[in-house]
Amino acid sequence: MEKTTVSRHETQPGTRFGTRRNGSAGPGQRRQVRALSNVDPALRRCWLAVARSAAVGTTPVKTWLLGEPYVVVRIDGEVVVLEDRCPHRLAPLSAGEVVDSTLECAYHGWRFDGTGRCVEIPSVGKAASIPQKARCGAPYGIAERYGLVFVALDAPLVDLPEVDAFGDPTRVRVDLDPFSGRYGAAQLIDNQLDVAHFAYLHRETFGSSEARVVPGCEIVRHRWGFETTMSIPITARNDPAAASGDHPVEQERTMRYRYLAPFFVELELTYPVMGGSNVIVFFVQPETPERSTMYVTLLLEQPGGFTAGELADRVAFEYRVVDEDLALQERFDDLALPLDVTTECHVRTDKASLELRRLLAQIVQAP
Ligand code: FES
Ligand SMILES: [Fe+2]
Repeated sequence: MEKTTVSRHETQPGTRFGTRRNGSAGPGQRRQVRALSNVDPALRRCWLAVARSAAVGTTPVKTWLLGEPYVVVRIDGEVVVLEDRCPHRLAPLSAGEVVDSTLECAYHGWRFDGTGRCVEIPSVGKAASIPQKARCGAPYGIAERYGLVFVALDAPLVDLPEVDAFGDPTRVRVDLDPFSGRYGAAQLIDNQLDVAHFAYLHRETFGSSEARVVPGCEIVRHRWGFETTMSIPITARNDPAAASGDHPVEQERTMRYRYLAPFFVELELTYPVMGGSNVIVFFVQPETPERSTMYVTLLLEQPGGFTAGELADRVAFEYRVVDEDLALQERFDDLALPLDVTTECHVRTDKASLELRRLLAQIVQAP
């Protein structure tokens, strides 16, 4: 298992952190929501990815979450996430710099520690007291795991997932470049849990016409997630032995899906003919009403390992598969995922999608 760091800040009175925002359920109340948008306040109670760890250094970077801007920076090795708005004149702190273990605002030099507390206001001199209001909002929790930075803006309902494949030394890890665009976060996850689209959307890559009829599957429910496994026909264009005629191009693959609310999917693809298995891990960052970023990590394994060329081919293939999905996702008009199950027309092969909607509704309605 990878090293994990989690920090928890006390919620700050008088800031927007740790307080309920418009639309969230109060104690004992249940909120009815017809659809989950990228900025639904219920998502404040979830761990959400905000950046790749490797992209966070001592130069502040701006990111967006649930429609609000945040600055992410590393101070003394620890990841700090703060509201990207200096309390003085609301200048973006992401334009500032790290100085003496603080984040210094570029405008008038106010300095903030990793919890968002202002520790110096140069214009009034060191002897002057610092107003209580001189504070940047900070999330409830910050965690660095799986090569990503996560935050929970309020106390989270669901723990981060355990993903054992990250610690499997037989697997080759490849972090794909983040996929950012006009996407609905929940729709991206729904797409990754969907099997019935393979024969259509992925006909240029692995989608086999044999997969038009989708086999039944059983859903194993957990408190905030589920698992399901199925075997499905594929056209194995990613199998070099199929190209040389040593393997049939029409093969089967076993797919094990693991979902955890709100935006985590682990997909384990096992290839009995080709050999080996791929684990693909998805996390999604809902940035603004019309923008999300999907982080995809491949954890690949095949008997005998990979040559550099084989690995490059595998990775290029996975980019093509994701691009096929995203080309449709960005064309959806409404980016909110319906939670009212009467909005869409579900059939028996949509079990996983229905579970997703049920669990997201559970997040929204959690007391
Ligand atoms: S706006 Fe940040 S110090 Fe003035
Ligand atoms: Fe797909």
